[in-house]
Amino acid sequence: MSDKVYIFDTTLRDGEQSAGVGFTIEDKLEVARHLQRLNVDIIEAGFPVSSPGDLEAVSLIAREIKGPVIAGLARAAIGDIDACWQAVRHAETPRIHVFISTSDMHMAHQLRKNKEDVIEMVRATVSHAAKYTSDVEFSPMDASRSDPEFIFQVVEAAIAEGATTVNIPDTVGYAIPAEFGNLIKQVSERVSNIHKARISIHCHNDLGMAVANSLAGVLNGARQVEGTINGIGERAGNASIEEVIMAIRTRPDFMGVHTDVNTRELYGLSRLVERVSGIATQSNKAIVGKNAFRHSSGIHQDGVLKMRETYEIMNPADIGIPAGGTIVLTKVSGRHGLRSRLDDLGVSLSAEEFERVFEAFKDVADRRDEVDDRDLEAILSEQTSVHIAEQWTLDLVQVSAGDHASPTATVRLIGPDGALHSDAAIGSGPVDAIYQAINRVMGVQNELTEFSVKSVTEGIDAQGEVTIRIEADGGVYTGRAADTDILVASARAYLHALNRHLNAVTSREPAKSM
Ligand code: KIV
Ligand code: ZN
Repeated sequence: MSDKVYIFDTTLRDGEQSAGVGFTIEDKLEVARHLQRLNVDIIEAGFPVSSPGDLEAVSLIAREIKGPVIAGLARAAIGDIDACWQAVRHAETPRIHVFISTSDMHMAHQLRKNKEDVIEMVRATVSHAAKYTSDVEFSPMDASRSDPEFIFQVVEAAIAEGATTVNIPDTVGYAIPAEFGNLIKQVSERVSNIHKARISIHCHNDLGMAVANSLAGVLNGARQVEGTINGIGERAGNASIEEVIMAIRTRPDFMGVHTDVNTRELYGLSRLVERVSGIATQSNKAIVGKNAFRHSSGIHQDGVLKMRETYEIMNPADIGIPAGGTIVLTKVSGRHGLRSRLDDLGVSLSAEEFERVFEAFKDVADRRDEVDDRDLEAILSEQTSVHIAEQWTLDLVQVSAGDHASPTATVRLIGPDGALHSDAAIGSGPVDAIYQAINRVMGVQNELTEFSVKSVTEGIDAQGEVTIRIEADGGVYTGRAADTDILVASARAYLHALNRHLNAVTSREPAKSM
């Protein structure tokens, strides 16, 4: 049997560091449940000291998710480690992940510490973490730009103090595969106590080489790979974990290792992360992009129809991509057909949620010839908003706009008192007019910081999904909604975000402070 490569998913920690992303506790738990089904080895659930909301989310995941190790991140500081332990200690297997910068640049300009100080901090904090748990990971941040001799020393000290995983990050995505592979090889040869720890790698994608660097690390002895679903994360993101997993699975002849991942969960999880992060994957994204298994040229289509492997190096079914066309959902489809398609997509719903999705599906099916997977995703996304306690709901929105008219909107909302409240406003455009009218009714102070519309289906009757972000009272709240009318979707997305804010105020949903 080949060596196992442990898969460490950091979608909920490094992934959440993507600009503009802020997961709610519910989002985090849903992603963690799906990661559990994917059978990853380690879930890095968050950075507990960063906010009370994150500490609560990590601790909830630690209590709920059985199977994978649950890790929390901590700087090399006693307070961080104590907060991290508070959050992860309820897990079946808790891990504390301690990091500190080791490059000359970071030490001089950010930490303002010398090498001796840093080694001392590593010793003091890793040994402190090891008093709590036998599963401690240590990362020398910016390792790929650090003096390699210093990396060997720091890693040796961390292992001597109890670290059982040593993670070598390419924090700023600077490394080139051959160079990074060589660094990992040297860590395995030059650190005297390395046999007591597993070598891990954590690569960022600034030069588009995060996955290539990760694979080079594995070829040189790393046995844990860190990454995120869809490659989300700081700046250009992290290594796309689905790409690493499928490269290892597709090329065992060359890689000589395996993972224990249930790859059929990848597609559903990728869609879920798209929905909750608001970051759409590009169509040509490897493994999970819309076009990853679509063939356009006649020659390719001819080949694939004769024998799939002529132009497909992976079987889409192994990634959980639903076999297109086996069940065509239309307005005459029943619950059975819908449930079967949702099962294919890896979506499990309670009976009550399913009924709501079915009603929404019937509604869309009445307006479209066929309801495809992206329509369903939009319906499910809309369904997520139904989970949020809606203090205010939309009863009516009407807009008048045009190139010779001032955009004017009228809205009628149902308030928490069950009564109808209406108002109208003029705006700089139709969406602005709707938002001004809603503001007049609800009177909630906030700033709209992001607004995006994407078409989630094709054609003139396509569903548009609107994702927005507002800031209110120091918190950031996202709102999402889909409809064939993007002005209706815009109004609902705004209400979704405002309701999240109101829920946070009444403490049902703690705000993530940024
Ligand atoms: O990129 C990085 O160096 C990190 C560390 C905290 C592991 O995310
Ligand atoms: Zn990182």
